[in-house]
Amino acid sequence: MKARKTVVGDIDPRVLAFTTGRDPVLDLALVEVDCIGSAAHVAMLSRMPMHPRLFTDAQRKAVIAELVAIMRTARDGTFKIRVQDQDVHLAVERRLTQKLGDSGRKIHTARSRNDQVAVDLRLYGKVELLALMGEVLELVNGLLRMGKRFLAEPMVGRTHLQPAMVSSVGLWASAYAEALLDDMGVLWAAYDFNNRCPLGSAAGYGVPVPVDRALTSRLLGFDAPIANVLYASNARGKCESVLLSACHHVMITLSRLSSDLILYSMPEFGYFSFPREFGTGSSIMPQKNNPDVLELIRGKVSRSQACVMAASGIVGGLPGGYNRDLQEAKEPFMEGIGMVRDSTAILGMMIPRLEVHGDALRAAFDSSVFATDVALEAVASGVPFRTAYRSVKERLKDVECGDPDQAVARFQPGGPADAGLVELKKRHTESRSAVRKAVRGFHGAVSKLLGVPYPELSV
Ligand code: ARG
Repeated sequence: MKARKTVVGDIDPRVLAFTTGRDPVLDLALVEVDCIGSAAHVAMLSRMPMHPRLFTDAQRKAVIAELVAIMRTARDGTFKIRVQDQDVHLAVERRLTQKLGDSGRKIHTARSRNDQVAVDLRLYGKVELLALMGEVLELVNGLLRMGKRFLAEPMVGRTHLQPAMVSSVGLWASAYAEALLDDMGVLWAAYDFNNRCPLGSAAGYGVPVPVDRALTSRLLGFDAPIANVLYASNARGKCESVLLSACHHVMITLSRLSSDLILYSMPEFGYFSFPREFGTGSSIMPQKNNPDVLELIRGKVSRSQACVMAASGIVGGLPGGYNRDLQEAKEPFMEGIGMVRDSTAILGMMIPRLEVHGDALRAAFDSSVFATDVALEAVASGVPFRTAYRSVKERLKDVECGDPDQAVARFQPGGPADAGLVELKKRHTESRSAVRKAVRGFHGAVSKLLGVPYPELSV
């Protein structure tokens, strides 16, 4: 077969198809961030101390306007990446050259696709992480509301799934809220890791022209440039792996929450139920309304883990400097974040609609749930705990089933009717303002750079 002409040489069509892989499809999700990165790059080039200047003000403006036009075509689905383009980077360059001639041919000055894709993935990671954080906080909000509303609603607390001690629906719900607030801490750590700019590192060794890396970093709303240009290249893949593993912690929490919901909405428990439209039916059994959403979330935890392993496995043992292996981390990166976001968003929609059945919750109580309480009552009158424990164990059948409602309310703080809601609400509020601040900061920086409001891109 005849070799195909590309910007980077004539390539055998099968080699081209193999090396390009899924990039022409996957990179459609990177068009916006690629244009944003290029806007910062051209803004920097236009200020670079060179005579004559690489880009005049008018040329810089024209390039940025064209980049915005490309972003719009990406949104309406008409931007195409061809196999000969290989990836989004060369597709955007082709389009700029078609429209603007030499300005398009100059855009890749002092840049490599290596730093270009690295900055794209960090911008993509930032956008996705901020969206995920918003979705996590929405779910936390639902769980905390549920926690407050059902704080005094008795529920059998279980260990090994066996009845253990008195608990409440509020304690159950807010436990998952707290787990997610802790997961937010992990997401923030990943956010900070991600928030450094690789642009200007070029192929990994810098360029012998006076690029201003601090300027591009600032224009794009990053904390700072990555100090060492070789590390800027080496950090590709590692960064994706850090983000994915942070997301995976959220996925673990969601899968456990789903597992509880599946169990407690079985008719044999009957504690909870969802409106029928949140389940799916069976093609043969007319009565069915199955918790497929929750099962899919439980199942996705292993796929999310596979994404973390794919990304970290690709970088482990890789020699320093750019290697094409890194392209293989792109798909698990996008897939892993996407599935956590979808799962979080759908649970955020379902939790406020969860129906709680007080009669079933109360009917599940038996005397065994009160055995520890009886032993502790004896302690209050001076009996050593182990002595009290033994005597209750020997006469378990004498333990009476208490009133679940009274039992829930009987001790605070740290009991089933406490649940730490005040502190959790405070953490939720603080986290939400931090996310909003980061979103505003990023949107502000990009709007200023593009000269149009972002993300709206309205004129
Ligand atoms: N699609 C490529 C990737 O994801 C872009 C970088 C290509 N760089 C190169 N030196 N071949 O890695």
